[in-house]
Amino acid sequence: MSDNSFGKLLRVTTFGESHGPAIGCVIDGCPPHLEIEPEEIKRELERRATGRSRHTSQRREADDVQILSGVFEGRTTGTSIALLIENTDARSKDYGNIKNQFRPGHADFTYWKKYGIRDYRGGGRSSARETTMRVAAGAIARKWLRQELGIEIQGWLAQLGPIRTDENPQWDTVDDNPFFCPDPARVSELEAFMDALRKSGDSVGARVNVVARNVPAGLGEPVYGKLDAELASAMMSINAAKAVEIGAGFASVEQKGTEHRDEMTPGGFLSNHAGGILGGISSGQDILVSTAFKPTSSLRLPGRSIDQDGQEIEIVTKGRHDPCVGIRATPIVEAMMALVLMDHVLRDRGQMGDRSKD
Ligand SMILES: Cc1cc2nc3c(=O)[nH]c(=O)nc-3n(C[C@H](O)[C@H](O)[C@H](O)COP(=O)(O)O)c2cc1C
Repeated sequence: MSDNSFGKLLRVTTFGESHGPAIGCVIDGCPPHLEIEPEEIKRELERRATGRSRHTSQRREADDVQILSGVFEGRTTGTSIALLIENTDARSKDYGNIKNQFRPGHADFTYWKKYGIRDYRGGGRSSARETTMRVAAGAIARKWLRQELGIEIQGWLAQLGPIRTDENPQWDTVDDNPFFCPDPARVSELEAFMDALRKSGDSVGARVNVVARNVPAGLGEPVYGKLDAELASAMMSINAAKAVEIGAGFASVEQKGTEHRDEMTPGGFLSNHAGGILGGISSGQDILVSTAFKPTSSLRLPGRSIDQDGQEIEIVTKGRHDPCVGIRATPIVEAMMALVLMDHVLRDRGQMGDRSKD
C-alpha cells in the first residue's frame, strides 16, 4: 500500500485500521501561528461519530484526539502535526465468522486478491474508521481557511433513498438533527423511513452535497491539478462514494448551452452551473460538489457469496453497522473540501504570491 497520503503543499497521511490499537494522521505543511485546541477538533469528530442516534452504527468510540506534535502552547508551529485517536470500542469477535469469507459489496475480495493477506476485523484499513482522521485534519484546514480568507464550508444530506431533503433549505438547522438534513419539516419523514428500513434489515444510499463560500477566484492548477479534478478525487476516495458531480453535474447532459453557460454581467455571474470552477480554476462563485454514497453492504439479510477457497456460501453480516452510510458522510465531505482548498490556496501562493493582501 503506497498511497496513504494526499495533497501537495498541505499533505495529509493517515494510518491505522478499524480494530487496531489506534488510528492517526500526520498533517504536513500547515503554516505556523494557527491557534488550535483539541476541543475544536473534537467538536468536528463528534459530528461524524457513531452512536449519535438510533439511525447510525451503535459502535461508541470516544474519539479523544491527542495532538502529538506540531502544536505548542495552542498554536501550530509549522512542523508536522501528528494526531492520534485510540480505538476503544472495537468488537473483533463479531467478525470471526467471516474470517475466510468475502462479504459482497466490501473490499474483502479485492484486498485479498491484491495483497493475499487480510485484516478481517471490521474491514481493517478499508473501514470508514479511517475517515475519522480526515475529519480531524479537516478541522484544522477549515479553521485556517476561515481565518485566512473567510471561506465557509457547509455540507448537508441532499437525498436519502427516495427522499429529497433540500428543496426548502434552512441552513442554520443542518446540525440540529442526526441526518444533517437542511429542512426541519423532512426530519420526521426521514426518521420513519429509517425505522422501517432498519426493521426490514436492508440499507439505502444517499446524496451528500457541500458548498464552499467566499472562495477567491484563481485556485486550481491546470492541467493535471485542476480544482474540480482534485475535488472529485478527494470525494471519490471516501468509502462507499460511487459518483461525484461538480455544479450541474450529470444534469448538464440534458441542458442546452444557452442554459448551462453561466452568463456574466458587470454585477457578476447570472447562474452557477459550473459549480464555481472553469478550466479547473475557481471563478469566485460558490464551489458546489455532490457525492453519491451507495447503500451499506453489511446486512443481516442472508446473501450469496464465496469463501477464500472459491466455495459457494450464504453470508450474514453481524456487527454494528450504519443502515445508511451517507448519514454520517456530511462532516467527511466537508473535511475533504477544506483539505483540498487549503492545499490549493498554499499552491496558488507558491506560484502567485499572497493575493489576499492585494
Ligand atoms: C461514514 C461511513 C460509515 C460506513 N459504515 C459502514 C458500515 O457500518 N457497514 C458497512 O458495510 N459499510 C460501511 N461503510 C462503507 C464501507 O466502508 C465501504 O463500502 C467498503 O469499505 C467498500 O469500499 P467501497 O464501497 O468504497 O468500494 C461506511 C462508509 C462511510 C463513509
